[in-house]
Amino acid sequence: MLSRTPPMGFNTWNTFGENISDKVIRETADVMVETGLLDAGYNYLVIDDCWSLRERDPETNKIVPDPVKFPDGMKAVSDYVHSKGLKFGMYSCAGTRTCADYPGSFDHEFLDAKTFAEYGADFLKYDFCYKPQSANGPLLYRKMGMALKACGREILFSACNWGCDEVSTWIRSTGAHMFRSTGDINDNFRSFKDIAMSQIDNLAYSGVGCFNDIDMLICGMYGDGNVANGGCTDEEYKTHFALWCMFSSPLMLGSDLRKLKDQPFILNLIKNKNLIRINQDEESRPAFAVNGVKERITFAKHLSNNEIAIMFANLSDSDGCCELFFDELGVPASSGYGLEMKDCFTNQTMVKKEYFRHFLKAHSCEVYICKLVK
Ligand code: GLA
Repeated sequence: MLSRTPPMGFNTWNTFGENISDKVIRETADVMVETGLLDAGYNYLVIDDCWSLRERDPETNKIVPDPVKFPDGMKAVSDYVHSKGLKFGMYSCAGTRTCADYPGSFDHEFLDAKTFAEYGADFLKYDFCYKPQSANGPLLYRKMGMALKACGREILFSACNWGCDEVSTWIRSTGAHMFRSTGDINDNFRSFKDIAMSQIDNLAYSGVGCFNDIDMLICGMYGDGNVANGGCTDEEYKTHFALWCMFSSPLMLGSDLRKLKDQPFILNLIKNKNLIRINQDEESRPAFAVNGVKERITFAKHLSNNEIAIMFANLSDSDGCCELFFDELGVPASSGYGLEMKDCFTNQTMVKKEYFRHFLKAHSCEVYICKLVK
């Protein structure tokens, strides 16, 4: 089964945009193995937009990989990615052109799905630009869902219509395994905060088999790359990653992974076992906002094995206290129970009764994996 838990991997768009190549993909594949990212669960390497020539082959009608960017073709790239133990992902679009104006799959769905299968693709991101006015959005995703079923290979279907047409309510029925629910992320605090906040009411639509994708990660971009827009501090990247884990979003890395050897903070963050465990919990229960005062919000997410993840997020621009009365979580003082709380960043454990209050700097967070104890 695909997408039993939120898919994890890397996507070229955030950093590389149109500057993708055989070399970039091979080097990224190498780094994903060398830095332990593959072992941590990041197993998809996805090529986003701008990989093809501007027009289809007039004879075969197929999309043609750009021979300058990919001189040995896509199968060679895919074989290399597979040889590293990774899975290979491609990109296309439900409209006539992709968002960066390359050929889209509209009216060529079955041919293109077959072509991706020939490349050995394991993943397809499917965008929504240049949709003909008369075309029905949900039907276009159903079509590609069917084309992938017919293509002879098991391919994870990653829909990307940015939340249009109330996508959360129908996308699961198209066969998609994850779905973008928002517009594009930028590398700054405001962007990831707004994206996460916009999905609080949609989290219950996300679950085993089809996850709400709140976009590729920006951790480690530090203001460089295709979606650069000011950058974030380490503390902000920590809050960003923790939110994505709590929200059961797919974890698609977006920075230049080749720089990770010189970015120990980011490497530790994206490999944090506790946070990944929260994200990958087999029950995939939705997080919920327990309380929130002045953008200091507490999120909770039930986990398997009678555990609960709790995130205190100070998303406001000023320092202040985050607090939680356990009663709000469903644990009244009268029950006699408190929480044993393991800090996901330090692994230290403490026991708290009735309430928790901590001072948090602006834009920072704390995350705990908790158990009920007497
Ligand atoms: C859209 C998507 C992005 C990216 C670009 C590529 O904007 O939302 O994630 O795939 O297209 O052009």
